[in-house]
Amino acid sequence: MDKYKKLYDMAVEASLKSYSPYSNFSVGSAILTSDGEIFTGANIENMSFSLTVCAERTTIFKAVSEGKKDFEAIAIYGKENPCIPCGACLQVMSEFCDDDFKIILSDGMHTLKELFPNAFKYNA
Ligand code: THU
Repeated sequence: MDKYKKLYDMAVEASLKSYSPYSNFSVGSAILTSDGEIFTGANIENMSFSLTVCAERTTIFKAVSEGKKDFEAIAIYGKENPCIPCGACLQVMSEFCDDDFKIILSDGMHTLKELFPNAFKYNA
C-alpha cells in the first residue's frame, strides 16, 4: 500500500476537480501505467443525468486516448470511502486489465478479480 501512497494522494487531489453539482458526490482517481506514468480524472456530471461519467472512466479514457493500455493500479477517492468502483467502471477496467490489476481504496489494496470476478466477455 505504501508503494501506492502517491497514487492515492493524486486521486484525492483529482477529486477536487470533480464536476458534481447534482449529486454533490465528488470522486477522483489516478491510474498507474506499466511504464510508470500516472493519469488522473474526476467524475463529470450532466443535467441530462445519464450522460454523467465516473471518475474511473474519465481517467482510463484519458490514458487510453494517450496511447496507454497497460496498467498496474488505480487509486480511487470519493466523498465517502471506501469508494468502490461501479460495475460499469469495473467492466471498462476488465477490457484493459488482468485479474491481478490493483485497486487502491481507503481500506487498502484490492484486485480486479476480487471486486469483479465475472466480467462480460465474448469471443470477438
Ligand atoms: N461515481 C464515480 O465517479 N465513480 C463510481 O465508481 C461510482 C459513482 C460518480 C458518478 C456520479 O457523479 C456520482 O459519483 C454519484 O453517483
